[in-house]
Amino acid sequence: MTDTVVKSIPKAFLLFLAGSCLFALSCTAPPEGNGSDGARWFAMQHCNGCHGKDGAGGRAPEIRGVGLSYGELQAKVRNSGSAIMPSYSSERLSDKEIADIFVFLEEVK
Ligand code: HEC
Repeated sequence: MTDTVVKSIPKAFLLFLAGSCLFALSCTAPPEGNGSDGARWFAMQHCNGCHGKDGAGGRAPEIRGVGLSYGELQAKVRNSGSAIMPSYSSERLSDKEIADIFVFLEEVK
């Protein structure tokens, strides 16, 4: 009895996870990014001034290879909610350019 209950929870949880992943993929699929363009935006927008060369950390936390999703990166960049980090409007940095930075941060980790 207890045995079946314990076993059925992970299964339901896995199904839930699979469902939410599909949902997330179809709803927030990032634009295709290009890492070498991303390196350029990263320097042009002075991300590197705070986050260090290649996002390795400096005056702000390391952001390369820290497991952030594209959605998390995009949300932070658009609305940093920070007294230190600026927010970037889509005129300043497009979704495509954020995707480029995302790929760049994946590639340099
Ligand atoms: C003036 C300094 C400054 C600049 C410029 C800056 N950041 Fe930040 N950023 C910070 C600081 C400080 C934090 C950590 C504190 C916070 O979240 O407010 C942060 C946090 C972040 C985080 C969250 C890290 C985490 O682990 O949750 C991301 C992602 C990020 N920055 C990306 C960027 C990108 C991309 C750019 C360029 C488009 C950029 N930042 C430009 C200072 C800066």
